[in-house]
Amino acid sequence: MMPAVQDMAVHLSDRHFRTIAELIEGQVGIKLPQGKRLMLEGRLHKRVRALNFSDLNEYVDNLFGAEHFDTELTHLIDVVTTNKTDFFREPQHFTFMRDVAIPALLKLHGRKNANLKIWSSASSTGMEAYTTAMVLDDMTRNGSRFQYRILGTDISTAVLRLAKTAIYTRDVLAPVPEPFVKRYFLSSRDKSRGEVRVVPELRRMTHFMRMNLMDASYPVDRDVDIIFCRNVLIYFERETQRKVIEQLCSHLRPGGYLLVGHSESMIHSAVPGLKQVQPTIFKV
Ligand SMILES: C[S@@+](CC[C@H](N)C(=O)[O-])C[C@H]1O[C@@H](n2cnc3c(N)ncnc32)[C@H](O)[C@@H]1O
Repeated sequence: MMPAVQDMAVHLSDRHFRTIAELIEGQVGIKLPQGKRLMLEGRLHKRVRALNFSDLNEYVDNLFGAEHFDTELTHLIDVVTTNKTDFFREPQHFTFMRDVAIPALLKLHGRKNANLKIWSSASSTGMEAYTTAMVLDDMTRNGSRFQYRILGTDISTAVLRLAKTAIYTRDVLAPVPEPFVKRYFLSSRDKSRGEVRVVPELRRMTHFMRMNLMDASYPVDRDVDIIFCRNVLIYFERETQRKVIEQLCSHLRPGGYLLVGHSESMIHSAVPGLKQVQPTIFKV
C-alpha cells in the first residue's frame, strides 16, 4: 500500500535514517538504534522547516553537499544528544570527593596551597561542574587549604551555551541543600521568571569548552586530579568506551580519580592500570 502523503513528509526512509545514524556514530560515537527514530524525526522537523526543505529526506539528501556541513553537523549533534543532568546527581560521588579523594590528593600534592584540577568531561549544562564547585568552595570555607579550577567539556554547543551562562530555572534546585541554595545562587530580579544564577565566585573557577570524546587527543592538562565521565559512555560501543577511558586516564595525575555513572561500573575491565575503589570510582 502507498504511504499517505503526510507520512512521506514526516518520516525518514530507512536509507536516510541509516545515513544519519552512521554519520552520528562515526563523528560522536553515539549509537542511534531504531528506537530513537521517532525522536530524531520529531526533533529534526524544526530544522528542516527553518532551512525550507520540503521534508526530512530532502534535508538528509542535501546534508553532505551542504556548504555549511559543519554547521549542520553541530545542529544534528544538539538534536541527538541526551543531555539529562542534575545538581548533586549520584550524590555519593560528591561525598567521596569531599571525604576521601580531596584529602588523599592534598597529601599527594604535598604543598600547603595545592591547585586542584577537576574535569567534568561530558558536562551537559554544567550542573556536575557547579556541584563540584559548591562542594570545593564549602571545603575551603571549612578550613581546607587549596585552590581549584574546574573544566567542563561537551560535544553539544547548545548545552555549553547554558553552562556558560549558569542560569537555570528554580525547579532544578530541588537536590541542592538549602544552605548551598542561599550561598551559591542569585535569584532573578524579576521573580516571575523563576530563574537563578550561579554566583560569580563559582563561575570564575569554572570554564567550559567544546570537546569531542571521540577525538584522537584531548587539549587538556595531563595532571588532572579528578575526572567525571558520567552517563555518556553508555551511548558508546564497547571498544569506543575502552579507548575513551584509556585516553581520559592518561590525563590523570598519578593517584587521580575517575568517576563514572552507576550504569557504567563494568567499563573499566579492559583498561590496564585502573584500580577500582568503589563500584563507580577508579584510581590510576
Ligand atoms: C546524559 S548527559 C550526562 C551529563 C552529566 N555527566 C551527568 O551525569 O549528569 C551526556 C552528555 O554527554 C555529551 N556527549 C555525548 N557524546 C559526546 C562526545 N562524543 N563527546 C563529548 N560529549 C558527548 C552529551 O552532549 C550530553 O550533554
